[in-house]
Amino acid sequence: MIMVLWLILCYDKLYFITEKVLAMTNDSTTIEQGLTDILANTYVLYLLTHNCHWNVKGINFHHLHAMFEEQYTDLAVAVDDIAERLRALGHYAEGSFAQYLERSQVKELSEQTDQKTMINALIAGNTLLVNLMRSLLRSAEDVCDDGTVDLLSSRISVHEKRLWMLNSLLDA
Ligand SMILES: [Fe+2]
Repeated sequence: MIMVLWLILCYDKLYFITEKVLAMTNDSTTIEQGLTDILANTYVLYLLTHNCHWNVKGINFHHLHAMFEEQYTDLAVAVDDIAERLRALGHYAEGSFAQYLERSQVKELSEQTDQKTMINALIAGNTLLVNLMRSLLRSAEDVCDDGTVDLLSSRISVHEKRLWMLNSLLDA
């Protein structure tokens, strides 16, 4: 009888631990996949913004050239911060164009185009990132991953401010 009780107690503890480990693994995978997607999309947005900086033409050339430089400079720092957050959590940080292009949903520009098309492409890219970050922020809050919450919160603010500025360029 004692043996049976001991086995039941052990089984319950083992079941509890197994459930806990599985839940932690799922949380960890969600954060890892989310940050990896955000890294890929941020890197492609960085290149898109650099493309716009190089190829912008027209009446507002100097203003847009400088504005896009400010944006890609920030994104260069951001990709480093996101990749290093992955490493700090013990995950692999993808670092190849093939991996980024497979994951990224940011639409690239592959030929000379006008200012409005560039600005709309940047609005779409920044909007996509804000949405990805907002979604992952909720998951990070749920598991008390304060470092990821902090990183995502500050990045969301940057992209929201950028969207305000980009959208303002299109106001007649
Ligand atoms: Fe430049």
